[in-house]
Amino acid sequence: MISDAMRMRMNEQINRELYSAYLYLALSAHSERANLKGTAAWFMAKHTEEMSHALKMYRYLLDQDAAVALTAVAAPPPAPDGVLAMFEGTLAHEREVTSAINDLVDQALSEKDHATNIFLQWFVTEQIEEEATVKDIIGRLQRFGDKGQGLLLIDNELGAAAKTMGQADSADAGA
Ligand code: FEO
Repeated sequence: MISDAMRMRMNEQINRELYSAYLYLALSAHSERANLKGTAAWFMAKHTEEMSHALKMYRYLLDQDAAVALTAVAAPPPAPDGVLAMFEGTLAHEREVTSAINDLVDQALSEKDHATNIFLQWFVTEQIEEEATVKDIIGRLQRFGDKGQGLLLIDNELGAAAKTMGQADSADAGA
């Protein structure tokens, strides 16, 4: 059993996670059209991860006998030019998500809602990892360039990384 306020906040977060999925789907399409297959695969894997985050919250609400209220998902902005700009936008977005997750934890703590607090801890940890990963990619793009051979190298790396993304999420989802 969770409070109405908590239920509303969790539903808002489901929308945020779905928006994240939509945003990364758009960046994947943009990358593929720019012949950046590895970057496209990385953003597609991010899309899948964000869908799984939304579904974790969806499952949690239903398990708590709370209503899921789906609302319209906003359209993502046009993809920026350049891979570096795409990842800088990704980091800015993930920082907003981190802030929203922290607000949810604050709400759970203020209500002494231990179950929701424990549930949210997975997301707190996930956000640390996500921000660190994107910061690392930005650092490599800044060092090796987001054009020419530097970009080719990083695009290949992103394609390889995409193959292992989401494995921890799916293992958790099956748990
Ligand atoms: Fe589900 Fe990257 O926030």
